[in-house]
Amino acid sequence: MGRKFFVGGNWKCNGTTEEVKKIIAVLNGAQVPSGDVVDVVVSPPFVFLPLVQSLLRSDFHVAAQNCWVHKGGAFTGEVSAEMLANLGVPWVIIGHSERRLILNESSEFIGDKVAYALSQGLKVIACVGETLEQRESGSTIDVVYAQTKAIADKISSWDNVVLAYEPVWAIGTGEVATPAQAQEVHHQLRKWLHRNVSAEVAQSVRIIYGGSVNGSNCKELAGLPDLDGFLVGGASLKPEFVDIINSSL
Ligand code: G3P
Repeated sequence: MGRKFFVGGNWKCNGTTEEVKKIIAVLNGAQVPSGDVVDVVVSPPFVFLPLVQSLLRSDFHVAAQNCWVHKGGAFTGEVSAEMLANLGVPWVIIGHSERRLILNESSEFIGDKVAYALSQGLKVIACVGETLEQRESGSTIDVVYAQTKAIADKISSWDNVVLAYEPVWAIGTGEVATPAQAQEVHHQLRKWLHRNVSAEVAQSVRIIYGGSVNGSNCKELAGLPDLDGFLVGGASLKPEFVDIINSSL
């Protein structure tokens, strides 16, 4: 069976109540394929999750942008996986490069977070990706392998994981990876899963791409054999997100 296309919209730290309502109105009015063809997930900041859940069409789902690494408790400012599960939030993004690089989250910490979120019944969009310096020094594949291994070491099932390849140099820069660059890394990630997890997982795990995806460049990328969807930042706040949702058709 083929892998179902997956499109996530990561709103990052953006939005007001009014803006959220406008974006949701666009999504709710959009003509898109059924949920059998594409999974669509939008990821607002924590504070807007209940509002988005109350307004969003039922064939789209929500994701949190982060969660705490263990059970909740005395961790000021954090939101636990249990709380997300309790709210009925099905997905969480973990390991985004903005958290790795700005909040200093290590690969090991991210592996622990993925494992804990899965243990609480959440589905995880786990992010990996190299910096420009790492790409220029020729270590892209080593970097994404190490980041993926840190996750694989902590989990026993990949059933509820989507792997997002997001090269840091392409995030928010307008410099999207070329189809050849994206396909090469996605293919290598699938090979890593084949060698180190199982043939079945390598075949079934969705590997999505993030980094300056927009309504104009999505179609060409969507046709790549090892690319199963997108994690979209800036363009997920605009009507062109609908074109990205429809890019696999
Ligand atoms: O998680 C999505 C992301 O980091 C890409 O952001 O704005 O380049 O689409 P953007």
